[in-house]
Amino acid sequence: MKIPLYKPYVGEEETKAVLRVLQSRKLSRGPEVEAFEREFAKYTNKKFAVAVNSGTSGLHILVRVMAWKKGDEVITTPFSYISSANALLFEGVTPVFVDIDPVTLNIDLKKIEEKITSKTKGIMLVHIFGLSATSEALRRIKKKYGLQIIEDACEAVGRIGDDFTISQIGEASVYGFHENKQITTCGEGGMIVTDDPRIARICRSMRDQGRSLEKNWIKKVILGYNFRMTEVQATFGREQLKRIDSMLARRESIARKYSDLLSGIAGVTIPEQSLLSKRSWFLYFIILKNQKTRDYVHDRLTNAGISSSTNYFPPIYKFPMYKDRKVRCDNSEKISNTLLTLPMFFEMSDVEVENVANVIRKSLTKKQ
Ligand SMILES: Cc1ncc(COP(=O)(O)O)c(C=O)c1O
Repeated sequence: MKIPLYKPYVGEEETKAVLRVLQSRKLSRGPEVEAFEREFAKYTNKKFAVAVNSGTSGLHILVRVMAWKKGDEVITTPFSYISSANALLFEGVTPVFVDIDPVTLNIDLKKIEEKITSKTKGIMLVHIFGLSATSEALRRIKKKYGLQIIEDACEAVGRIGDDFTISQIGEASVYGFHENKQITTCGEGGMIVTDDPRIARICRSMRDQGRSLEKNWIKKVILGYNFRMTEVQATFGREQLKRIDSMLARRESIARKYSDLLSGIAGVTIPEQSLLSKRSWFLYFIILKNQKTRDYVHDRLTNAGISSSTNYFPPIYKFPMYKDRKVRCDNSEKISNTLLTLPMFFEMSDVEVENVANVIRKSLTKKQ
């Protein structure tokens, strides 16, 4: 593909840092992970950060820390990457799917309360495409029913502020650093953040075979995993974190350019403009009027050497391991059939954005 859907940024600093770590011969459980955790906690304005080997691992650990178990119900969105619900299934927890709002694409807060039962323990809250799903209404629901919230912020890394409320409602959140994300830790990785020292302590233990942090750890071991981040991943992530603000700013300017170029085209719905600066931009997306048109535009982009994707996201309840759940979420199904994600990456040039937009415009004007 001439224009990929995503392309991780690998600068000279990242390369040098990785070489330095390799030469140090300290490749695991070392100072880079510790420093990355400190720096990431500071960036997200949280007291603790615990590095793990993927976003999925972080979510899985947190489900255990919440002590959600078989028989418990947890509310979540079907319009997400499958891992946010899988983290519940791993522990036998029942995901209860609530449909999304067609504008924000996040869980529809108005539909949560009708799904709460005596078995409901919490919410797996996903900030989809980097847009915060947090609100005052959600705070009220959390309080009223005494729910615990895990925030899946895997697509939503960014500096916390009044306008950007990630990691502001949950007991803990998880960020993802796969190579398609806004920043990466050399391909794979994740980070849990929390203000709760107990949660941080258990996460730290569980990512490392359940060992206690004390000297005589073998006597205090709990059932854990090997979800450790390597030193190479951490040093790579530290370099990306140093330039994260400019990386996010560039993504936002790409989104603005896409919006300018695509806004006038009949049949194309662009992301809500009033939310443009409230997102951490992950991928740009458009919604077409039906599946046939969406697939047609996708084919035209492919023929032009431009990567786009129709896979964001099939409703999770349609996957085989969720098939027994009798659920239908109309907005999620409709969006899943009509949404197309477009290329977005730090080094993407304005000309590349124009090329993508031109192919979309031409394919639709010809068709109509
Ligand atoms: C919404 C969401 N949740 C969870 C994950 C899982 O992250 P990872 O691929 O690092 O396991 C991802 C990323 O791929 C994601 O987009």
